[in-house]
Amino acid sequence: MSSETIAVACDHGGYDLKLALIETIKELGFEILDLGSGTESVDYPDFGYALGHAIRDGQATRGVLVCGSGIGISIAANRIAEVRCALIHDALGAKLSRQHNNANVIAFGGRMTGIDLARDCLKVFLETEFEGGRHERRVEKLSNP
Ligand code: RB5
Repeated sequence: MSSETIAVACDHGGYDLKLALIETIKELGFEILDLGSGTESVDYPDFGYALGHAIRDGQATRGVLVCGSGIGISIAANRIAEVRCALIHDALGAKLSRQHNNANVIAFGGRMTGIDLARDCLKVFLETEFEGGRHERRVEKLSNP
């Protein structure tokens, strides 16, 4: 059992996939902080920002975002300085986002990526460590644009 809390958020385009991913997060033994939303039409920036603020404020260490394409909500989250959000479509991307970029948020498109693939990617993301070393300096530069 991990004490790490994973924040999750979505818009209406990502709701179904978010529900499936919450199950995966629970199965892996993490705590969940669900910041919404549901099936009603909402604006994805509000939820990308809410999750980014939760990371910034230490309410969660990592996060999962889903909108229709994954694009808008990942752009929103990446506007928060403490967030390194990777929009992911395959397991290799999920692995490299952790090993090389120390991504702390993963984003999916609920209308783009199937549930089984997204679950595989999320599992890899949650279980892969940052490699550090030569990547440390580069990731630090991401905090100093
Ligand atoms: C909502 O229709 C859609 O625009 C949103 O979920 C997302 O795809 C935006 O990037």
